[in-house]
Amino acid sequence: MALVNTKKMFEMAYKNGYAVGAFNVNNMEITQGIIAAVAEEKAPLILQVSRGAREYAKNSYLRAIIDVVVEENPDIPVAINLDHGDNFETCKQFVDDGFTSVMIDGSRLPFEENIAVTKKVCEYAHPRDVVVEAELGQLGGIEEDVVGVEDVEKHIADPDQAVEFVEKSGCDSLAVACGTSHGAYKFKVEPKLAFDVLEEIGRRLPGFPLVMHGSSSVLKEFVDLINKYGGAMPNAMGVPEEAVTKASKMAMCKVNIDTDLRLALTAKIRQVFAEKPSEFDPRKYLGPGRDAIKAMVKHKLHVVGCAGKAAECS
Ligand code: G3H
Ligand code: 13P
Ligand code: ZN
Repeated sequence: MALVNTKKMFEMAYKNGYAVGAFNVNNMEITQGIIAAVAEEKAPLILQVSRGAREYAKNSYLRAIIDVVVEENPDIPVAINLDHGDNFETCKQFVDDGFTSVMIDGSRLPFEENIAVTKKVCEYAHPRDVVVEAELGQLGGIEEDVVGVEDVEKHIADPDQAVEFVEKSGCDSLAVACGTSHGAYKFKVEPKLAFDVLEEIGRRLPGFPLVMHGSSSVLKEFVDLINKYGGAMPNAMGVPEEAVTKASKMAMCKVNIDTDLRLALTAKIRQVFAEKPSEFDPRKYLGPGRDAIKAMVKHKLHVVGCAGKAAECS
């Protein structure tokens, strides 16, 4: 199957009460770990490329790896999404490069300007069969200069604005800030998501797919391993997996996960280095790291509920 956009995936996810996992890719091992998990679990897949990933690996390299993934897995519907595109030109470039989905993140802009830039991206993307994800409210972690973890609650998406935004911009899905943030330090005290807001937006926009950013759970097991083997990640905290599952059964049709993959890879590599100090063959630590990514993704596909759903999304 060639690359697909997310239309059918979201239609099925919404109808059947699950979300599709969207995983960030930064190199070959991460991508291979993800696709190995998805192939075994027969899940639909969204791979996404952030600005950091592009700066690190170059889009052309990541695209070549993703093209192999698609070619070797004809039974898996795969979409590729530009994660947090910051302006029209970036989104246009990724549409032209063959991405099937682009996110225009205008969340730092005034409301009307966010609508205007999202509309412009839609007008370019839609005739080319590319879907557009937009963002409303502000998440912590990416827009660090604006939102610190302690301020996340103040930036939760407003249901009235969500309805107006979707109607006026024409976006295909909307990332709504609901208390999550990017990275490994999402909450200072206890995790809290605005499920009432999600429910209200879901009720006011029936059938419309929402997107959850900052969905990593920062599992204690992996933070403990990192700390045990020489790392220092005190007070790391993520979104409890039950909350991710609950959101996935609501209107959240896409769940973004990056940090949990980083933690799995880092914990495993640290373990190898600690247990085998003489090891210097990259394959001997990147290989186990890749296996750790695979295990994490397999687990996540069950958390969001898309395991076994590849066929219905094709
Ligand atoms: O969108 C958030 C991702 O975790 C990407 O972060 O820009 O450091 O790759 P990054
Ligand atoms: P995490 O940092 O929680 O993995 O979120 C990733 C994300 O939202 C990418 O857009
Ligand atoms: Zn994000």
